[in-house]
Amino acid sequence: MNVQIINGPNLDLLGVREPGIYGDTGFEPFLKSLRKDYENIEINYFQSNVEGFMIDKIHDVGFIADGIILNAGAYTHTSIALHDAIRAVKTPVIEVHISNVFAREDFRHHSMISSACVGVICGFGLDGYRLALEGLLKLAQKK
Ligand code: DQA
Repeated sequence: MNVQIINGPNLDLLGVREPGIYGDTGFEPFLKSLRKDYENIEINYFQSNVEGFMIDKIHDVGFIADGIILNAGAYTHTSIALHDAIRAVKTPVIEVHISNVFAREDFRHHSMISSACVGVICGFGLDGYRLALEGLLKLAQKK
């Protein structure tokens, strides 16, 4: 099984950025432990602050990966182009947010991408990525 994690803008600063909201663990150490726990799954990781590069990555893997875990950061709330990219590919996409976006500012309550994704996980910290991986495993078993 082959899963692609895509993180969007400002998520390169995890561990440093607003630790009260996003925690004090960087993504790389978390990814290391995730890969150790799921040795049989190939977990690829891509982060970009640029919307178009995220779209390119969805196109690149969207017909070959078994699943995509997408935290689109603030583009979640604005990007019709990401919505269209998710709908354009075959690979199922799970939307993840580290924080509970519904307990935060009003502008974070709406997602442009949720309706194009198979599911949404938010508010569980970095564990949300683990939960999304479990969700993709279940989907793959059903195939
Ligand atoms: C986020 C929530 C977004 O509203 C925010 O813009 C982010 C991170 C999260 O993981 O909680 O950059 O996607």
